Amino acid sequence: MSARVLVVGGGGREHAVAWSLAKSPRVAEVIVAPGNAGTAVEHKCRNAAVAVSDVCGIVEFARSRDVAMVVVGPEDPLVMGLVDALGEAGIAAFGPSAAAAELEGSKSHCKEFLNANGIPTAAAAVFCDAAAALEHLEALSAVPVVKAVGLAAGKGVIVAETKAEAAQAIRSMLLEDRFGEAGHEILLEERLRGTEVSVLAFCDGTDYQVMPLAQDHKRLLTGDEGPNTGGMGAFCPSPIAADELIERVGREVLAPTLGALTRQGRPYRGVLYAGMMLTDSGPKVIEFNCRFGDPETQAVLPLLASDLYEIFEACCAGELSTAGIRWADSAAVTVVMASGGYPVQSSSPVPIAGLEAAAAHGCKVFHAATAMRGGQPHTAGGRVLAVTSLAPELGEASEAAYRGVAAVSFPGAQFRSDIGREAQT
Ligand code: AMP
Ligand code: GLY
Repeated sequence: MSARVLVVGGGGREHAVAWSLAKSPRVAEVIVAPGNAGTAVEHKCRNAAVAVSDVCGIVEFARSRDVAMVVVGPEDPLVMGLVDALGEAGIAAFGPSAAAAELEGSKSHCKEFLNANGIPTAAAAVFCDAAAALEHLEALSAVPVVKAVGLAAGKGVIVAETKAEAAQAIRSMLLEDRFGEAGHEILLEERLRGTEVSVLAFCDGTDYQVMPLAQDHKRLLTGDEGPNTGGMGAFCPSPIAADELIERVGREVLAPTLGALTRQGRPYRGVLYAGMMLTDSGPKVIEFNCRFGDPETQAVLPLLASDLYEIFEACCAGELSTAGIRWADSAAVTVVMASGGYPVQSSSPVPIAGLEAAAAHGCKVFHAATAMRGGQPHTAGGRVLAVTSLAPELGEASEAAYRGVAAVSFPGAQFRSDIGREAQT
């Protein structure tokens, strides 16, 4: 039977998920809420004007359109309990419950969970009071990372180079309200050194299957300079992802996490994303995300050789161990093109040219912040597009993605020129 699926979200990650689901013979239609200019015209896809934070509206929409499964992309509706609300309405949903998503929703809760379960992570202390935080900062021998505890769209982490910068970050969160509620509690966390990898796993409550490891590029500028962003590009698989590493992260991180959550009565179904730092003393968790990564997904899912809808079904049914997930033996690179002014303040909408030319170069252009205006795609926010290419080797995939990027243009476009070019090892 052919199913109608609702994907919640409007970013590049959701375009990639919708595109991948649409390839399934089991899927008749993918509705993306609210979607973007890319999902509006994707094969078998269409958009619906329902906001991601409108929990009641999404439940009502899914019920009224006879949706077989809802797939939730972003963290906010997960933390708000969208999957719980869908479950109460008898609608299948791919994503964790609010209780399980708390691992991303609160960095202090996550830290407590990791420590209580002996899962390797950076040392950290939690503060609500600026004076106490500043005093702790003075006493530390190294400059810590300053983190807003709540959700801040990937921007609530300040990797300070000096104590003065860290002090400023503490003041901006606890005294100047720069991150709102999310920054009223903060972590001062030991800075980890090493290579960062994104370990994404499909989870069915008990079992997990790790996807090929990806590497994101958080800094805005080429050469890892500039401020942190939501992610400026990714490649997959990571050349450092030896079987041994994947096995170790499974044993030391994923298995104990799923086990503890089940014991606590909040089994994890959905994608668990462990942001890992490979330090000299072993892999350590930087953070958990309760969803697919963005832009990792735009590099990972194009390599999937199995049916994504059937994987989601297996996760929902607790039958992942029998799913047999296959991946293409290739490499994928995705390069994010962002608006001028990102990540501080994105420029107002401007027209985007060259999308067909990029496709003619063999690239898949996933849309993120785009909207149609007067029949033409325009920018509509910070991260605008993710241009993906596949090739047998990483270097070739990178070259191919950059041929696509060169074909696309919009005023003020920012992108890094080193995604997948110098894979960190
Ligand atoms: P998060 O939102 O916690 O993933 O942090 C965003 C980014 O900040 C991470 O992907 C890292 O690049 C960096 N970061 C966060 N915590 C640390 C840490 N303890 N040590 C070094 N870098 C970190
Ligand atoms: N790429 C980082 C994230 O999705 O949080």
